[in-house]
Amino acid sequence: MRISVLGTGYLGATLAAGLAQLGFDVVGVDTDKTKIKSLSEGDVPFYEPGMEEVLRTSLASGRLRFSTELAEAAEGAEVHFICVGTPQRRGENAADLRYVDGLVDSLAPLLRRDCLVVGKSTVPVGTAARLASRLRELAPAGAGVHLAWNPEFLREGFAVADTLHPDRIVVGVADPADEAVLREVYAAPLAEGTPWVATDLATAELVKVAANAFLATKISFINAMAELCEATGADVVALADALGHDQRIGRRFLNAGLGFGGGCLPKDIRAFIARAGELGADEALSFLKEVDAINLRRRERVVELARAEVGGDLHGVRVGVLGAAFKPDSDDIRDSPALTVAGQLQLQGATVNVYDPKAMDNARQLFPTLGYADSALAACRDADIVLHLTEWREFRDLDPARLGEVVSCRRVLDARNTLDPLAWRAAGWTYRGLGRP
Ligand code: UDX
Repeated sequence: MRISVLGTGYLGATLAAGLAQLGFDVVGVDTDKTKIKSLSEGDVPFYEPGMEEVLRTSLASGRLRFSTELAEAAEGAEVHFICVGTPQRRGENAADLRYVDGLVDSLAPLLRRDCLVVGKSTVPVGTAARLASRLRELAPAGAGVHLAWNPEFLREGFAVADTLHPDRIVVGVADPADEAVLREVYAAPLAEGTPWVATDLATAELVKVAANAFLATKISFINAMAELCEATGADVVALADALGHDQRIGRRFLNAGLGFGGGCLPKDIRAFIARAGELGADEALSFLKEVDAINLRRRERVVELARAEVGGDLHGVRVGVLGAAFKPDSDDIRDSPALTVAGQLQLQGATVNVYDPKAMDNARQLFPTLGYADSALAACRDADIVLHLTEWREFRDLDPARLGEVVSCRRVLDARNTLDPLAWRAAGWTYRGLGRP
């Protein structure tokens, strides 16, 4: 089977390489020439553990290639995956669908024979039905062009594993024949026993945003508990451990701290709220506004705490910041809580030095005025306070005694609650977590 993957960002590049690894003949298409050149040479344009190996093996097998020519790709493929981005619209909550719409409008006139177009991008519910009629209307093959929706749940940092061994596969189809095609595409994970959920287009679109809304709610729930813990002197980490033993709740995604960021959760819950409003169901999702507000409050709280810890004024204070990526094992800094905090501290007069194991180049581009150092130790040199903002393993493994030798004051604010308070206190540090006594 020949497959085209349209859009080679995080999602598309990983999918293209993964499908080629599974034995399909794949072409990845993107308008970004630099990205296509880099992928064609086996260089992954973002940091993702394990991705380079899959990309290089797939390229070497001869089953994977990349191109900027949509026409050439569309020509031979029987299945086309839509993997372009759906960012938040500027100044609005709603999703910006210009890339999806633009792609469908360029692709449709090229579809001269029967084929299946499969949407993977995260879209507002109702988009798939609209695109299906647009394809029928514009494609020379007309009703022979079918559309299915197959949401993607991959997490950055685990993108390869999540693509090759997903925890479930959801397909929204309007015709049982389309489900059969998708079963062929996913034969390998299906053979491993991966659960398969076939449903209608609207439900498939909703599964994705509902999953992200649930995860965001879980994180904001525990962060709300952290606010209460702070008000009462209780410990949110022990609380989360105890809650997590209840199998109905589970411990995962109950890590209180600086909250969620990244290219998905924040914009997806906002787009979901906006779509519910358009559908006249805004009350159903009004709680998500609170989820968003709790989340953003964490960033303010960390700035406030840092200011309080240094005596109420950040002017002239030297801050060592550990972490810039929105989460560990990623170089993604989109809506990164760490950088929001670092930027705010600087605006309030502090001298901020940031170190991140992988996100330095991206951070520099977005926040060129922050200070950057090439190691944790260098970022914390002469610091009056150290802020732990992204929970990389490298930071958990830091020796607090060694770091204590370079700072001007042994004061640490652990905004991810993953450093060991006992070890840091034993090394003479004033340790402060979020929602912890
Ligand atoms: C998310 C979804 O998990 C994934 O299924 C979807 O396809 C895309 O969006 P991702 O953005 O890669 O994936 O990150 P995820 O691991 O979900 O973390 C999101 C944010 O939540 C990060 O900023 C992380 O630091 C934060 N988080 C996560 C917490 O603050 N506490 C937790 O307990 C877990």
